[in-house]
Amino acid sequence: MAAAGLWSCSGSRQADAPKGKVSIIPMPANVSEKEDSFLLDKQTVIVATNESDKKTAGLFNAWLKELTGYELAVKDQGNENAILLQTGSDTTNAEGYTLSVNHNNITINGNSGSGTFYGIQTLIQLLPVQKAHAMYVPGVEIKDSPRFAYRGLHLDVGRHFFPVEFIKKYIDLMAMHKFNTFHWHLTEDQGWRIEIKKYPRLQEISSKRKETMAGRYADNKYDGKPYGGYYTQEQVKEVVKYAADRFITIIPEIEMPGHSLAVLAAYPNLGCTGGPYEVGTHWGVYDDIYCAGNDSVYLFLQDVLDEVMALFPSKYIHIGGDESPKVRWEKCPKCQARIKQEGLKDEHALQSYFIQRMEKYLNSKGRQIIGWDEILEGGLAPNATVMSWRGIEGGIAAAKQKHDVIMTPGEYCYLDKYQARSPNEPLAIGGFLPVSKVYSYEPVPAELSSEEDRDIKGAQGNVWTAYINNTDYLEYMVYPRAAALAEVLWSPKEKRNYDDFVNRLKVHTGRLDLKKVNYAKHVFEVTGKITGSDKGVQVALDSKLEGGKIFFTTDSTAPTPRSTPYAQPIPVTQSGTIRAQVFLDGKPFGNEYNQTFLFH
Ligand code: ACM
Ligand code: ZN
Repeated sequence: MAAAGLWSCSGSRQADAPKGKVSIIPMPANVSEKEDSFLLDKQTVIVATNESDKKTAGLFNAWLKELTGYELAVKDQGNENAILLQTGSDTTNAEGYTLSVNHNNITINGNSGSGTFYGIQTLIQLLPVQKAHAMYVPGVEIKDSPRFAYRGLHLDVGRHFFPVEFIKKYIDLMAMHKFNTFHWHLTEDQGWRIEIKKYPRLQEISSKRKETMAGRYADNKYDGKPYGGYYTQEQVKEVVKYAADRFITIIPEIEMPGHSLAVLAAYPNLGCTGGPYEVGTHWGVYDDIYCAGNDSVYLFLQDVLDEVMALFPSKYIHIGGDESPKVRWEKCPKCQARIKQEGLKDEHALQSYFIQRMEKYLNSKGRQIIGWDEILEGGLAPNATVMSWRGIEGGIAAAKQKHDVIMTPGEYCYLDKYQARSPNEPLAIGGFLPVSKVYSYEPVPAELSSEEDRDIKGAQGNVWTAYINNTDYLEYMVYPRAAALAEVLWSPKEKRNYDDFVNRLKVHTGRLDLKKVNYAKHVFEVTGKITGSDKGVQVALDSKLEGGKIFFTTDSTAPTPRSTPYAQPIPVTQSGTIRAQVFLDGKPFGNEYNQTFLFH
């Protein structure tokens, strides 16, 4: 617009600029707005003096370039018309930062490199979302730090495989929402997705399946198409570095003893029956798992983990542990001999033996294990962190045993569930988890004392991809629900307010649009309120979408931007159907409103 030209030739940096709207997700701990603003233009410089801050400056420039077409010079000194990055070395509250915007400069003071990075993420959210050459940044004083140390998102790449470029986008979006842990679920019954050089059949056999279940589980239909993919070690290194530059730790998951059918297909001697096996083609839980009585299994897994540890510097390695049926172990002479020889009570104790043996190995290499809450059964490994997924009970039990806990209860954290009740929703695994319910989640169970509270390190959204078979659908399932979870994890509990979140989300969707994210729009879709009775019925329509226009029909045809624009409650005097849809710039948002009235 013309305004940009006006600003760039005025040259003055006075404070009479239009006041921008501060709309940040996740909500910072403390924000105060003031009568001031900073004019960011081509001449603005970034002052960064260490390597980490220079990298962070580069990421800010990448965002700015998409918005404005230019990047800012990064210098070692400067004060006027500058964004000053300053980084301390506070290790106790490392992710905290302060951000100050006034007409001369913007100062970001990170407690450590990650704090400065989060300050930059917040600054990005102070910029407008419309493309412009110069822009006012609203005057603010922000002091911020996260509520939880562990803020995770997970992704299952076993059921469906997603390419490196998409994984990077997933990580970018995580960083934007101040998540700090990416749980990469790399192995499944239906596919092994990481190159292990010592075991080439994992690439040749385990990474491929002959076909895939199509449609509903109950229909038991298959698509007849071979499917496969895996990440090379070079690609994994590239992704680990990409994430580290964005202060995201990747925790790899190598499933054991269950969810291992794809491995057995390549190395059948590692199963109890010896096979033959084939890589999984349907969803659900398979009975064939690693044989716990065969030492070759432990040696195989140690070799695999050696290569995994060389790629991932994370303190934690996830070893799975979930959904491991014991039917093969009950009948296997080797497994039964192991139970006798080790004096174990039963097959659950045998699983505990398995996990503890692998824990000992990983601990000896300086790593810690995380497992799904089934690792509580038969006795918890001494240093294990528990991921509570079958509700919150596992988390409570682990915290009471003084173990670290990450909460991922299905009811609030499984982003593979349906998020709307419309019949138009794409096929999902089941369940119902709207954005509002994710937002309402409180990770610290009321049952814990304040002492045990401290063992709850945070929470994580899980994204299982049996039914999520392409990146558009994946983005649709994850956003904005992950934005809601981000606020649960970052913002002070007392600052959370769903209506306020939805208002900020209206602005935030502009940022998601800029990143070309196919987020779900249900939060903004048309809602209807019916009042009156008999033939005095009225329907009031509403949408929270800013700038959106509602159009409706009463003749059962689909609403379009050429239908009747909604202005006031619609009187209904005869049987029929009202269909309505909100449009922004001619494009439909969210599901249609569809209500039939029958008068007798
Ligand atoms: C899980 O959802 N099987 C951890
Ligand atoms: Zn066995």
